[in-house]
Amino acid sequence: MLKTCFFYCLVDGLKGREAYKPRKEVIPMDKPFQATVDIEVLPAHFPVPGAGFLPVNAFVIKAQEPVLVDTGMGIDSEEFMKALKSVIDPRDLKWVWLTHDDADHTGNLQRVLEAAPNARLAAYSLAVLRMSTAGPVAMDRVYWLNPGDSIRVGDRKLTAVRPPLFDNPTTIGLYDDKSEAFFSADCFGAIIPSPVRSINDLAEGDLAQGMAGWASLDNPWVHMVKSDEFSSSLDKIRRIDPKMIFSAHLPPATGKTEQFLELLAQVPSATPSIAPNQQALEQMMAQTKQ
Ligand SMILES: [Fe+2]
Ligand SMILES: [Fe+2]
Repeated sequence: MLKTCFFYCLVDGLKGREAYKPRKEVIPMDKPFQATVDIEVLPAHFPVPGAGFLPVNAFVIKAQEPVLVDTGMGIDSEEFMKALKSVIDPRDLKWVWLTHDDADHTGNLQRVLEAAPNARLAAYSLAVLRMSTAGPVAMDRVYWLNPGDSIRVGDRKLTAVRPPLFDNPTTIGLYDDKSEAFFSADCFGAIIPSPVRSINDLAEGDLAQGMAGWASLDNPWVHMVKSDEFSSSLDKIRRIDPKMIFSAHLPPATGKTEQFLELLAQVPSATPSIAPNQQALEQMMAQTKQ
C-alpha cells in the first residue's frame, strides 16, 4: 500500500532528524540556476513543520518573447525580485504566465508587473476575477486562457494544459513545444526532507512518499475519483510525452514522466493523507523547545 501519511510518519520519526525550528526571519529563496539552455529556475524551499521542505519554484523561459511562470512568495519579496533581475531584465519580459491564483504563485505579482511594463499577464479568467477582489488588475494587460488555448512567444508555442491534479479551479499548466517541457503548477509536487536542486539528489523512497503524500493532501478530491477515470487524465500527459517536468513544488525532473504518472495512478486508492491536528502541533512545539 502506498504510504501517504507523511506528516505523522515524519512527526513520529523526527528523532534522528533535525526538528523544525521556526526562524525569526524566514527567507526560503535560494540561488537561481539554469535547468536547460533556455529555462531558469527561481527556487525557494518553504519549511513545513514536522515534514521537511516544500519547494516553491518560479521559472523564466528565455523565449524570443521571454516568459516568467509564476511570481513566488510574498514572504521573500526582496529576494525574489533580486533573483529575477539576476537572470533577466524584467523590462524584457513579454509575458507573466500565472498557473493559478494561490498565494505561493502570486506573491510578487504586483511588483513584477510594475517592474515589467511590457509584459502581459496570461492567466485563467477566473484567476483574474478573483484577484480583482483584492485590488485592481489592469485588464488591458491581461490575456485570458482556457485549457487547450495557446500563445506564440516568438520561437515557440505555449499551450495551456490542465494538469491531472490541481488544488485550485483556475489552474492552467503549460506545455512549451520547443523545450518539450511541461510546467505542471502544483501537480507532481512533494514535501522533501531537505532542499536539493535536482530530482536525482532525492532518495527514491523520499521522492515516492513525498509525492504521494503531497498529491493526497493537496488534492483530497482525488480519493473520490475512480482509479480508471483518473488514469485517463494521466494518459493525457502521457500523450503529450514531455521530456521535462517543471513542477512548482519539486526540483526539475528530466525523463521522469512515466515514473511520475505511475506513482500518481496509485493515489486514488491509497489511504488519504491526514493533516496535522492540535496534538501534532503541540508535539512539534515541544520538540522545538528541547
Ligand atoms: Fe495551489
Ligand atoms: Fe502551489
